Amino acid sequence: MSIDQLAETAQAMVAAGKGIIAIDESNATIKKRFDGVGIECTEENRRAYREMLLTTPKLGDYISGAILYDETLRQSTKAGVPFTKVMMDNGILPGIKVDKGAMPLAGFPGELVTEGLDGLRDRLKEYAKLGAKFAKWRAVITIGEDMPSGTCIEANCHALARYAALCQEAGIVPMVEPEVLMDGSHDIDTCYEITEVTLRSLFGSLYEHNIMLEGTILKASMVVSGKDCAEQAGIEEVAEMTLRCLKSSVPATLPGIVFLSGGQSDEDATAHLNAMNQMGPNPWPLSFSYGRAMQSAALKIWSKDLVGNVAAAQQTVYARARDNGLAALGKWKK
Ligand code: 13P
Repeated sequence: MSIDQLAETAQAMVAAGKGIIAIDESNATIKKRFDGVGIECTEENRRAYREMLLTTPKLGDYISGAILYDETLRQSTKAGVPFTKVMMDNGILPGIKVDKGAMPLAGFPGELVTEGLDGLRDRLKEYAKLGAKFAKWRAVITIGEDMPSGTCIEANCHALARYAALCQEAGIVPMVEPEVLMDGSHDIDTCYEITEVTLRSLFGSLYEHNIMLEGTILKASMVVSGKDCAEQAGIEEVAEMTLRCLKSSVPATLPGIVFLSGGQSDEDATAHLNAMNQMGPNPWPLSFSYGRAMQSAALKIWSKDLVGNVAAAQQTVYARARDNGLAALGKWKK
């Protein structure tokens, strides 16, 4: 795989007015989402739910790619068409979550390190054969008293770089995701500081591991006030601080940055992205790779009637894709 092919995929992921839908919840995480709306977490319900999302009519108007979970990458529609074929036919690139989750970092109570490097080379080879064009690895950085430690940031960024190198070797574009959690009572300045330190460490590690940045996408968390902070920053402040932080730490050669929603409301996630694009031009396309902010409204509708409400749920998925696609151009209106 040449750098040109990786770069082409990366650019397609952040094509103007398009973004990513993250539907890569592990079975444990999707169980939590299903529990929340009273759906039993069976393999068939997970398949049917992902079929509803992926067969949304005209989803490709605003969606360039979807991140799947291992089980989903191997599944098909009820009519027997592999999900990967449905996606490619609609111009949607298949992506795959390849990390094995964030585990407690030994010696650092309360901090996490993402696992999954062992055997990753072989898994990536198989994923490439199954049709995956890009991958995702999520590192989790927690803000708290005396947290995060430098050790936690370095260990996670080192793992992200090793994962990225293996992806590029397999011809798969790595999406690198260092998520600074919103949980906590810290203010937005603290979030800025931690996000900047984390991103600088990440790009230092990517440089040390010979990662081709032209074939890499960053999935970033926005700079926001902690969820329990008394003073909540407004839309403009979040957009301005996030842009400043990214500009001070992310090389301009990167083909694009997509954001996670991280527990923001649907409307905030869209409004923040829209505001950042209105403040442009920026060094990179800025788009979305939302999980909850793309799905939660549709899941609620679907849960009330798994067969009868498919079309209504899909209309909501399409509406969220359109709003976020417009926000990726700075053209969204409330
Ligand atoms: P949220 O947008 O729900 O944070 O999920 C995105 C994601 O893929 C986190 O890894």
